[in-house]
Amino acid sequence: MPAWDTVEAVQQVYPTTDAVVDSDPVDVYHGDLRPAPGTRPWVLMNMIASVDGATAVDGVSEGLGGPADRRMLGTLRGLADVILVGAETVRAEDYRLPRLPDDRVAVLRATSGRPPRPRLAVVSASLSLDTGSALFTSAESSDQPPLVYTSTAASADRRSALARVAELVDCGDGERVDLRRVLADLHDRGAAVVLAEGGPSLNQQLVAAGLVDELNLTVSPLLAGGTAARILSGPDLAAPVRLRLDRVLADDGFLFCRYLFA
Ligand SMILES: NC(=O)c1ccc[n+]([C@@H]2O[C@H](COP(=O)([O-])OP(=O)(O)OC[C@H]3O[C@@H](n4cnc5c(N)ncnc54)[C@H](OP(=O)(O)O)[C@@H]3O)[C@@H](O)[C@H]2O)c1
Repeated sequence: MPAWDTVEAVQQVYPTTDAVVDSDPVDVYHGDLRPAPGTRPWVLMNMIASVDGATAVDGVSEGLGGPADRRMLGTLRGLADVILVGAETVRAEDYRLPRLPDDRVAVLRATSGRPPRPRLAVVSASLSLDTGSALFTSAESSDQPPLVYTSTAASADRRSALARVAELVDCGDGERVDLRRVLADLHDRGAAVVLAEGGPSLNQQLVAAGLVDELNLTVSPLLAGGTAARILSGPDLAAPVRLRLDRVLADDGFLFCRYLFA
């Protein structure tokens, strides 16, 4: 047992003991460096969870969020070239293209030569995706069609239906899409930052394969109970992955924790 006078001080991050600094999250997050790690884009995983770790209430994440969280989501989407998402999240949440920014994010994207909003990329082996859903029908002229990463095993009927509304890319020969190949393809298309928006089973695979560089975890000030998945869901990792806490912001009771990998 250390003597009391040798115990190291802890850091109080909220509320701050100095004057509270109010920052625009756009300034904070758009000022971070995200260098491409080799032949794939920087992968930023963003998830919201309740204090007890639930990632959904009644099967969707909406009940965990609020205006502060939506503002952060808009900020992160603003710095992404591509949003990568698993097909079950698309089905459960009736996924749509991100809102077109009408604020400083729009100006930042335009001045850096990016389209107004990121491109959507969905991972699906089954291709059970509704071609009439808003994800595929609400594009503006500035949008490229969503990418759908699948495998050669997908049914020919579904392939031809989806090919009318999306760009299909084969990145697997059996039931599984190879996520390394997905990220290599996105890199070849010029994507520098990929925002991985879940769900937990896609997250687990990305982390297990060592393909994530940054985690933004929003802790919602709720206890949800229930059996909803945690932010990673799937087989055990070979070993727990050590993260480095880079920053914590707070707004309206939500904590926005930025962690970096390795
Ligand atoms: N709290 C949050 O921030 C947050 C964020 C996102 C989602 N969610 C919640 O998470 C839940 C959905 O997550 P989930 O973990 O069940 O599913 P998911 O990760 O969104 O999607 C899983 C599906 O993606 C496809 N997929 C993933 N990896 C694949 C691979 N390597 N090869 C081929 N296909 C692959 C498969 O689609 P097919 O079945 O089409 O083959 C699979 O069934 C929902 O309740 C949603 O509301 C929460």
